[in-house]
Amino acid sequence: MNKLKGKNILIGVTGGIAIYKVLDLISRLIKAEANVKVIMTDAAMKFVTPLTFETISKNEVYNEIFKNTINHKVEHIELSKFPDAFLIAPATGNTMAKIANGIADNLLTSVALATQKKIIFAPAMNTNMLNNYHTQENMKKLKELGHYFVESDYGLLACGDIGSGRMAEPLQLLEYLNDYFTEKDLLGKKLTITAGPTEQKLDPVRYMTNRSTGKMGYAIAKEAKSRGAYVRLISGPTAIEVPIVDEFIRIETTEDMYNAVEKVFDDTDCLIKSAAPLDYKPVNVSDIKIKKGSSDSNLVLEFERTIDIAETIGSKKGNKIMVGFAAETNDVINYAKDKMIRKNFDFVVANDVSQSDAGFGVDTNRVSIVDNGGNVEELPLMTKNEVANKILDRVEQLLKAR
Ligand SMILES: Cc1cc2nc3c(=O)[nH]c(=O)nc-3n(C[C@H](O)[C@H](O)[C@H](O)COP(=O)(O)O)c2cc1C
Repeated sequence: MNKLKGKNILIGVTGGIAIYKVLDLISRLIKAEANVKVIMTDAAMKFVTPLTFETISKNEVYNEIFKNTINHKVEHIELSKFPDAFLIAPATGNTMAKIANGIADNLLTSVALATQKKIIFAPAMNTNMLNNYHTQENMKKLKELGHYFVESDYGLLACGDIGSGRMAEPLQLLEYLNDYFTEKDLLGKKLTITAGPTEQKLDPVRYMTNRSTGKMGYAIAKEAKSRGAYVRLISGPTAIEVPIVDEFIRIETTEDMYNAVEKVFDDTDCLIKSAAPLDYKPVNVSDIKIKKGSSDSNLVLEFERTIDIAETIGSKKGNKIMVGFAAETNDVINYAKDKMIRKNFDFVVANDVSQSDAGFGVDTNRVSIVDNGGNVEELPLMTKNEVANKILDRVEQLLKAR
């Protein structure tokens, strides 16, 4: 679901070197079909021309406070009523100081004084400027007034110093705006999500695993967090970016995953088992590297079952919601139904991983949701984020009905 589509976003751009990142952000907002208007300070226009912002935002750029009014409308008042979200990025120490103290000596600070919206500040400055008593006091005051902050990061600054004050990256800002427009319908709910594969060692250099990348589980965790849930993400080894969650627990084996789930299960409202833990592990793990035999000899290894996490945990489910996944290559719906009954799931998300655009490693998925009332809902091809929201919609309904 594109939450930015059709939203009016006002961006105040001030005179900091991080201004270049805001062009990238605006380009992403336009792709998401948001309506973007930009106000630049005089200092900002020393860094980048308004033409660049005009071209990227596909809109006029505002700067002058004293200019002829269009249709007798006062521009700073009109602009103050425009935004669904009002972001100032980069936010200089100077502009934050002015807004914190009610100074309105240019178009941006006048709009800030006139608007009823809380402002989102993305500060960017040299570490000493950021740590300066006045800046800290101004930021504190702005927070007390209910304004929001996308805090700056630690890193290499434009002045060559390494320290805090580096503005958040465009993707972080985009994500923040996405969250800003997301209804917090899972607020107060605790979700535990398992994701990715597990690994089992064969010897000191070899291991077995499967093709799960964790993308589906990570998408659920990210969307659940955005909808206000307290999110625990228990993940096997993956190579993808970890979303911002409340607790991130990295595990290796299926036993590790079971222990991690077991530990938090009592404190969970909903467990979503999107991981693909290995069902088997070698009976013996060699302490030394298994040597290659002669070319006509086969290597025979014996495997035993790992613990079945869902089945074991499912027996003490109580009124918790449990969601399972069935990644199959044939007879998908029947396997999913069987899995749901055996493991006491409320519903199972079934997908045919033999399709190239669904399942492991790709960003899209085509799933069917099989519920314990015997209903099957077939969903069309969607991004994993969209699938995540469909799953969370059902979780939200089930939690409400408990
Ligand atoms: C090259 C350069 C980089 C600057 N970078 C920043 C910055 O990142 N953050 C900041 O607060 N001020 C920075 N400044 C100082 C501001 O541009 C200055 O305080 C200006 O008055 C801010 O005006 P404004 O808040 O109206 O945009 C920089 C100045 C220069 C010349």
